[in-house]
Amino acid sequence: MSTLLSCHRRRAAWLVAAAAAVFCVAAPVHAQGQPIKVGLMLPYTGTFAALGDMIEKGFRLYVDEQGGKLAGRELQFVKVDDESDPAKATDNVNKLIRRDNVDVIVGTVHSGVALAMARAAKESGTLMIVPNAGADAITGAQCAPNIFRTSFSNWQPGYSTGVVAAQKGYKRAMTITWNYAAGNETVKGFTEAFEKGGGKVIKELTLPFPNVEFQALLTEIAAQKPDVVFAFFAGGGAVKFVKDYDAAGLKKTIPLLGSGFLTDGTLQAQGESAQGLITTLHYGDNIDTPRNNAFRNKFAVTYKLNPDVYAMQGYDAAQLLAVGLNAVKGDVTKKDAMIAAMKKAKIDSPRGTFTMSPQHNPTQDFYIREVRGNYNVVTGVAVKALADPGRGCRM
Ligand code: BEZ
Repeated sequence: MSTLLSCHRRRAAWLVAAAAAVFCVAAPVHAQGQPIKVGLMLPYTGTFAALGDMIEKGFRLYVDEQGGKLAGRELQFVKVDDESDPAKATDNVNKLIRRDNVDVIVGTVHSGVALAMARAAKESGTLMIVPNAGADAITGAQCAPNIFRTSFSNWQPGYSTGVVAAQKGYKRAMTITWNYAAGNETVKGFTEAFEKGGGKVIKELTLPFPNVEFQALLTEIAAQKPDVVFAFFAGGGAVKFVKDYDAAGLKKTIPLLGSGFLTDGTLQAQGESAQGLITTLHYGDNIDTPRNNAFRNKFAVTYKLNPDVYAMQGYDAAQLLAVGLNAVKGDVTKKDAMIAAMKKAKIDSPRGTFTMSPQHNPTQDFYIREVRGNYNVVTGVAVKALADPGRGCRM
């Protein structure tokens, strides 16, 4: 009896050991066979809905060009509509991190939402790629080894437009924007360069995000008669602002400059009101390189739409993820090696090649663009290889 029992025990122990051995060998193979989970946290409703849609289209286009896989691995997308609402951002991103257990978060458009996402990504160590939101702190005081951006810092387009405004000889500027991180930081960048170049910002006008009741502020601009107005708006708000500025008769009397979001992805809706407007941005529709032409053709054929800056940034977010995944042959558990490769990445972007600053923000050219028809046409370079200062980042 006891011999039988001990035999059973020995057999059971062997079976457990064998099962454990199979499990140990099988576990990583199983993980490798699973798709990589990509959490797409973007606005699919509200004033930035079109921007979120273009980012996703750009991201998917790059993946499709690689045969639907990155580093040999299928991708599974988990989507969250962040509604550009910072109050819901922490809950939304934690759903992706804790409930869905995503391998990487891609998002978002709105700076306030992105700041909450970056906090959660930093705490959990989840890899995060920002395909638009410019909040300076993401690659500044809140920087982290696992957080990268393929777009810009708010400081960059503001600063480059300030350089252009000073070069044009304007002396007295007024600024107008939404009162939130993107608006305020873009204006700060503009002011830094404009005042360095000899100009003075005489008044900063703001309204709450995403309000579009511009009338009282336009009346104030008309009364102050500055040499130039600098504006940051995007998406639906940019459409309304450019039309209202024109309808108020200001377009004929006071030059309007903007960071390029004022006229990107918006021109069909803005029509005549946008014609001739000058902006700066890290992209333009007519960059005549084989890389940009191929991207634009493929995008147009796939979606029956022209791409914009948001589509390009989404495309490059997928490119950057591919750099990380290729370095580890698709094994997302090797996060340190992925990060090391992404830090050194030289992205062959439709905008032109860019590299990562030490704080993980693109170092890139900022173009001067002029609206002609339905295109933001590049007419020159405002600042070459502009690197964000990365203020406050300790990594
Ligand atoms: C932002 O909130 O960071 C942002 C939104 C739209 C365009 C550019 C920046």
